[in-house]
This record gives sequence, C-alpha cells and structure tokens, in this order.
Amino acid sequence: MTLRDPFGRRVTGLRVAVTPRCNLACLYCHHEGEVGSPHRVISADEIAKVISAGADLGIRKVKLTGGEPLLRDDLESILLRLPEGVEVSLTTNGILLAERAESLAAAGLARVNVSLDSLRPAVFSGITGGTAADHRRVLEGIDAALGAGLLPVKVNFVVLKENEGEVWKMVDFARDRSVVLQLIELLDQPGRGVGGDLSGIEAALEARAEDVVTRDMQRRRKYFISGAEVEVVRPMDNTEFCAHCNRLRVTSDGKLKPCLLRNDNLVDLAGADLEEMKRRIERAVLLRSPYFCARDR
Ligand code: 5AD
Repeated sequence: MTLRDPFGRRVTGLRVAVTPRCNLACLYCHHEGEVGSPHRVISADEIAKVISAGADLGIRKVKLTGGEPLLRDDLESILLRLPEGVEVSLTTNGILLAERAESLAAAGLARVNVSLDSLRPAVFSGITGGTAADHRRVLEGIDAALGAGLLPVKVNFVVLKENEGEVWKMVDFARDRSVVLQLIELLDQPGRGVGGDLSGIEAALEARAEDVVTRDMQRRRKYFISGAEVEVVRPMDNTEFCAHCNRLRVTSDGKLKPCLLRNDNLVDLAGADLEEMKRRIERAVLLRSPYFCARDR
C-alpha cells in the first residue's frame, strides 16, 4: 500500500529528527523547521515504533536527522529493532562518524549524508563554528563511512558566498573519494547566510558534464563530470518543491510534522502504541497540503 494525501501526493519517506542538540552551529541551519526549545526529546521506543508504523503503511525510506543524530548513543539499538525492508539513512555533520560508522553499518544503517561545506579549515570554522580538529574528524568520518560500506556516501555542500569558489575543488574531492557531491541551494532565512550563485555554477556544470540525469524528486539534476557525480538540490523552486514532496517529518519532541514550513498542524505521538501510531500517521497525512501552490505564482 502507499499513503496518499488529499492532493494525491504519495508519502514514501519519513524524516525523523532524533535530537534537537548539535555539536556545531552552522550559520545557515534551518533546524528542520523546528522552532523554540523542546519540552521533551523523542524516546528510542517512539522512534522505533513510528518507523515501524510507517513501514506497515508503506513508508519504506527513513532519514534520521537532528540536530546531530550521532549525539544519541542508542541509534544502533534503535536500528536493530526496525523491520526488514526499511531503508534507513542518516544526515550527520560527521564529527562523531569515524567511531560509529562500523557499528551503525552492522546495525543496518544503509548510507549517510555528511555535511561538508568547505575543504579549508578556516572557512569550515567560519560557516559551522567548528574547530580545525572538528574539520579533520569530518574528513576521517567520510573515510570511515566509505570503509564501512555506508554507500553511496553523499557530501552535502550548501552553496554560500563563503564557499562558492570551492565548488570545483569539491568536485575533485568527490571524484577522488568516490562520494556523491550534493550542491544544495540555501533555503533562505533572514540573517542566516547569503547564498552563492548556484545558477552560474549549474550552467558551468552543464557545460562540462559528459552526462546529465534528472530525478523526479524536486527535479534534482545529476551531473557526471569526468566520473564525479554531482547532484544539484534546489528546494526554492517552490511549487515544484511542494508538488513533489513525498515525506512526512517527525520532530525531535515527538510530533508528526506534515510540512517543513508550518508548525500549526503537528500531530503529537505521545502515548501512542503501534496501532495508534498508524492512525496518527494517517491523520498527519490528511493534514498535508502544499505550502506553495500553483496559484501563488
Ligand atoms: N538551506 C539548505 N540546506 C540546509 N540544511 C540545513 N539548513 C539548510 C538551509 N538553510 C541542510 C544541509 C545540511 C543538512 C544538515 O541540512 O544539507 O547539510
């Protein structure tokens, strides 16, 4: 079965923020749309249950996010409780990845996205607030993920004024390490960084690419540049973004979140057993509506 919302959009992915805490402070961070400080943090039991309930309803793709998910030390035990057939990936800043990659892979994690916004420690520090030692650990984390078979390893690079000059170095990095580079457009929020010229970059990628593939999800385009794989993620293509949205979110305080951009229609998971979780997921799916509609254009 596949869940469908009232607008006919299929719901095939669940994004679970497992903690609001982070060991970096990236200037652009949208905190997965969460606002305020949470009163409680979702429990391991709730995480395992909501993923299992989603799987029963046909949601087979799960992304663990945060905050920084690796600040939780119970991810392996959560992964071990999940049903077969659910593909779980994780988005991390990579600082704690080197020591966890093997155990996460052994517990069933499929792959990782690692945020890396610069190859230069000073630029990394300016964007993330991390130290040069943190930067080294991120690079070690990427290597460890490759070694543990968390494939494909994707590197998230948010294109900003600070780092737009480094894109071609990142393309080389992606080729050398066999990672997929994701060039991500800044989701604009006042005072949270200035985006780089992704349109110009994309034109240059297009000119150099030996092949270009378009994925339907958010109309992502993938460029192959002398063997390097580079995806461009442009969420600001508003109506397309919403039209292709196939995910439901879970906030770090345990609420189903039908829309990244809204906080007025959350569905609390507290106190629900597996069957009740399914009902609440269905309720949240019914509350989904495109934030940006064609009529807004
Ligand atoms: N714009 C674009 N992407 C963002 N991310 C977080 N905040 C933003 C934003 N404002 C994404 C990046 C980062 C991941 C943790 O979340 O891809 O690597």
